[in-house]
Amino acid sequence: LSEQKIVMEEIVMNEKNPSIAIDGPAGSGKSTVARLVAKKLGFVYVDTGAMYRTVGLYCAENSIDLENMDEVKKALQKVNIELKYDEGVQHIYLNGEDVSSAIRVQRIAEYASKVAAIGVVREKLVEMQRNIAENGNVVMDGRDIGTNVIPNAKAKIYLDASVDVRTERRCHELEEKGVSFDKNVIREEIIERDNFDKNRKINPLTIAEDATIIDTSYMTIEEVENKITKLFMGEVE
Ligand code: CDP
Repeated sequence: LSEQKIVMEEIVMNEKNPSIAIDGPAGSGKSTVARLVAKKLGFVYVDTGAMYRTVGLYCAENSIDLENMDEVKKALQKVNIELKYDEGVQHIYLNGEDVSSAIRVQRIAEYASKVAAIGVVREKLVEMQRNIAENGNVVMDGRDIGTNVIPNAKAKIYLDASVDVRTERRCHELEEKGVSFDKNVIREEIIERDNFDKNRKINPLTIAEDATIIDTSYMTIEEVENKITKLFMGEVE
C-alpha cells in the first residue's frame, strides 16, 4: 500500500510541477542553457552545483577535515544556505552572506567535488533541492538531478561536450573575468574532477536511462536551448 501511495504522490507531483533535469560534466554548458530555458518557460532555475560549492566554501574557510565525519556533521549544522532570485538570477547565501561570486574559483570547485562525495552533505542538499522542486516548476542542473533528485522530471537531459571544447569554454570564462590561467592545468582539472564525480560511490554522475544525450560541442547556445524546450514540450525532433 505504501509503495502505491508513493507512486501516486509522484504522479500527482509530476503533473503539478513538470520540471526539467539537466546533468552533465563540468563545462558542458548546463548553467548557461538551464538559465535561458528557465527564462523562456518562466520556471525557476536551480543551480545545485552552487549549493555544493557553498558547503565547500564553508569547509575551506573553516579548515574542516573532510576525512573526519564528526567534524563534517558539526560543520553542516552551522551551514545555512538560502537561494534568492534577482530578476531570475540565482544568488546563493551562506549564513546570510551572498557568496555567489566567492564560490566561483577553482579551489572551491575542487572542494565542492570533495564534499559532494560525502553522504551526509548530499542528504542535506538533496532534501533542499526536492523541496524546491515540489513547490514549483524548475529547471535544475547538476550531476544527479535526473537519476536521483527529481527522477520524475518531465524532461531529462544529459549535456556533454568534448574535453577540448569544455576546456576552451572554461578558459574563455576565466579570460572574461580577467583571471590568468594555464590551459593545460585547466584541462587536467576538468578531467580529474569529472573522473572523481563519475566514480564516487554515492550518486555519481551517470546518464539516466531515460535521458536524452545532447553533445553541445558544435552547437550554439540557442540550438541547445531550443532542443531542450522542444523535448520538454514533447515536440521531439
Ligand atoms: O560549474 P561546474 O559544472 O564546473 O560545476 P558545478 O555544477 O558548479 O558543480 C561543482 C561540483 O559539485 C561538481 O564537480 C560535483 O562534484 C558537485 N555536484 C554534485 O555532486 N551534484 C550536483 N547535483 C551538483 C554538483
